[in-house]
Amino acid sequence: MEDDLKAIVETVKSELGNLASAADLEQFKATISGPNGSFTAVTKTIGKLSPEERPKAGKLINQYKGQLQTLWDQAKAQIEEAELERQIGPAIDPTLPSPDSGRGSYHLLTQVRDQVVSVLCKIGFVVADGPEIETEYYCFDALNTPIDHPARDLQDTYYLNEGASVGNVSQKEKERYLLRTHTSSVQIRTMLEQQPPIRIVSPGRCFRRDTADATHSANFHQLEALYVDEGVTIKDLKADLDYLFRSLLGKDAETRFRPHYFSYTEPSFEVDLKSKHLGKVGTEWMEIMGCGIVDPAVFEEVGYDPQKWSGYAFGLGIERIAMTLFGVDDIRYFYQNDLRLLKQFS
Ligand code: DAH
Repeated sequence: MEDDLKAIVETVKSELGNLASAADLEQFKATISGPNGSFTAVTKTIGKLSPEERPKAGKLINQYKGQLQTLWDQAKAQIEEAELERQIGPAIDPTLPSPDSGRGSYHLLTQVRDQVVSVLCKIGFVVADGPEIETEYYCFDALNTPIDHPARDLQDTYYLNEGASVGNVSQKEKERYLLRTHTSSVQIRTMLEQQPPIRIVSPGRCFRRDTADATHSANFHQLEALYVDEGVTIKDLKADLDYLFRSLLGKDAETRFRPHYFSYTEPSFEVDLKSKHLGKVGTEWMEIMGCGIVDPAVFEEVGYDPQKWSGYAFGLGIERIAMTLFGVDDIRYFYQNDLRLLKQFS
């Protein structure tokens, strides 16, 4: 009998290491100590022994039962510990430096956007938001941009399918939706909601059907500014743009206005920039953005009295400013997520 009990305990010892879960353990335990288990079978043989042999055998069985119980307890504790470890993962020392690649940083376009916004906020502008999906009315009509203007052409603009509905973007009537081609639409949305004086800056994503090359991308970013009050003139526009570029580039930055045409401003200008901090192009004028005095037709459209109110507006390309300020010579670098570029400007 003792040999049988010993063999059972040995089997149990050698098997326990292979059991991975509490369920495995219970199943295995049943084959040993369950009603039909091997250990139980041996204990039953006690009935066949003579009365004199029984006390000794009983003692022996109790002794091995104790051993088995110790083994079961140990195995149960081990399995529970392993299961807990699996759940909470490996031990960590929270006082060690982080094993990841460190804190992230803002993308260059975000940095430039925030820089421009923060300069403008110092002179009283507040940030206004508008939808990236726009309607023709806000993007074109209300901005005095006629139906035959090339910006409205299918070749230049991403329109949504007829009948598309964009729940949170209000239409004037039943006009078409499109991906906004510029942030100027935020001028209209803001003026329709607020009365002057208004001083807003609105950065955001724009879309045009451009083939990507070193200076074009179908998706890019602009920043729009609108200032409406009594007696706003070109002098305010020029002074504020000088303030902006001198804040970004230093005191020697100069701007120059060249007459241009935008349908929502009259007169309209393109702005050229010159600064000795612009490296190679430091001695040349470079075209940087568009601006002008808000066209009275735009004020009439939003219900402002053009006799009373005047204003200026400007729009700049964030990529263009970033490329100019930091000497990035291909717009596509901004969207490739190449760490070599991102780290250079982190
Ligand atoms: N919306 C123009 C563009 O996308 C930029 C612009 C020009 C904005 C003149 C203005 C402005 O507010 O007055 O090229």
